[in-house]
Amino acid sequence: MTADEAQPLSPYERIGGAPAVTETVERFYKRLLADDELAGFFTETDLPQLKRHQVALISQVLGGPKSYAGRELAEAHKSMDISVGQYKAVGAHLTAVLEELDVPRDIIETVEQVLASVAPDVIGADD
Ligand code: HEM
Repeated sequence: MTADEAQPLSPYERIGGAPAVTETVERFYKRLLADDELAGFFTETDLPQLKRHQVALISQVLGGPKSYAGRELAEAHKSMDISVGQYKAVGAHLTAVLEELDVPRDIIETVEQVLASVAPDVIGADD
């Protein structure tokens, strides 16, 4: 391949790079904090740090330049007793934001697959 031959764009580039990921995370947390079923989880949290971690995590999932260097997801969530319903509600907020921002369907599906793959690390309650 020569240097000027086009490389396929990563999902990260296709959605608009860093500004799009930052906007996604901002909207995602607005929704979580406005949801009475979920807001209580975040009262003790350092939100700016959590947002930075989420930006890195989403960038990494989408093939962007940042890589996530926070705690393992199981480590971060194990003491929270998160139910299947709460896990699904958080995922639905993220999907809704991606749809609001007109992210292409195939990219949303990639994100949903990642969410499904980490479910056992995040869910802690049996219901
Ligand atoms: C669906 C997949 C999820 C992913 C990929 C995810 C990802 C993350 C990440 C990357 C962090 C940062 C960890 C760190 O700071 O080292 C985090 C923290 C956190 N997550 Fe999740 N999360 C998910 C689901 C949930 C759900 C369902 C809830 C609650 C209903 C939740 C509540 C929290 C809270 C409260 C923190 C902050 C913990 C703290 O301040 O110590 N997360 N999550």
